[in-house]
Amino acid sequence: MADFTGKAVIVTGGGKGIGRAISLAFASAGANVLCADVDDPAGQEVVDAASGAPGTIVYQHADVATSAACQGLVEKAVGLWGGVDILINNVGIQPLDSYLPAHELPEEMWDRIINVNLKSGFLMTKYAAPVMKKRDGGVIINTASVQGLQSAQNIPAYAASKGGMLSLTRQLALDYAQDNIRVLAVNPGTIETPLAAAGTGNDYAKLRQEGAKAHPLGRIGKPEEVASVVLFLASDGASFMTGEYVNVDGGLMAKGAWAE
Ligand SMILES: NC(=O)c1ccc[n+]([C@@H]2O[C@H](COP(=O)([O-])OP(=O)(O)OC[C@H]3O[C@@H](n4cnc5c(N)ncnc54)[C@H](O)[C@@H]3O)[C@@H](O)[C@H]2O)c1
Repeated sequence: MADFTGKAVIVTGGGKGIGRAISLAFASAGANVLCADVDDPAGQEVVDAASGAPGTIVYQHADVATSAACQGLVEKAVGLWGGVDILINNVGIQPLDSYLPAHELPEEMWDRIINVNLKSGFLMTKYAAPVMKKRDGGVIINTASVQGLQSAQNIPAYAASKGGMLSLTRQLALDYAQDNIRVLAVNPGTIETPLAAAGTGNDYAKLRQEGAKAHPLGRIGKPEEVASVVLFLASDGASFMTGEYVNVDGGLMAKGAWAE
């Protein structure tokens, strides 16, 4: 594992699921992590889980759909650690009552999903990029989705947010390459998290069983399996990568519709 000792990292949606695993992996690798979430008990649990790790995790309540919260997170990291080296735009929501075709989707639901999943990436970058420039560079990694590449039914806002995240990744990579800021994305397949489990009524056994069928590796993924890829992309091992996405999906995107 790469050494991130002394690096300042912000993880949005870091309280549970993939963001929790990313926060803990960075702390294990020596980083100082600002974990942002709206679920305070979950955030506190991540802080506790990192006790004894070489790095630290500080929790901050922040609804990253809002400009003030994003600005506050960057200011907090600067106050604590003098800057931001790595930004993980991981947050995402896919509410069960949003599974609707566009003509039935309430406008407010569209706005909320786009604001949390996509606008937060813009806002965090807006405030973090100037700080990264002062540090002579940095890394931004966006959690998109395989659903940014291919569509399931009745997820117009989620699909648009994830496709937008992939486009934003390319755009930011171009605009900040001259500043030595690399920008990358990961596309998880089905990962064992509270978000995914909501779809099976929090029945994790059912989630594992049903999700396994779709993925060529014959199982769903673990949050730690996304986190390890994120840490590689943030490391010097990926120093010539920018503007690219990596599928972390057990082969899901390799499978054609005619495969079975
Ligand atoms: N789990 C999967 O199968 C899967 C697949 C593809 C992509 N993803 C993406 O991975 C990312 C993480 O997903 P997950 O499965 O870990 O989700 P999760 O729901 O398990 O965890 C997300 C965390 O974000 C927090 N959060 C929600 N709204 C927030 C807000 N406005 N501000 C700050 N924090 C907020 C939640 O409280 C939660 O702790 C998301 O972008 C999701 O779209 C997940």
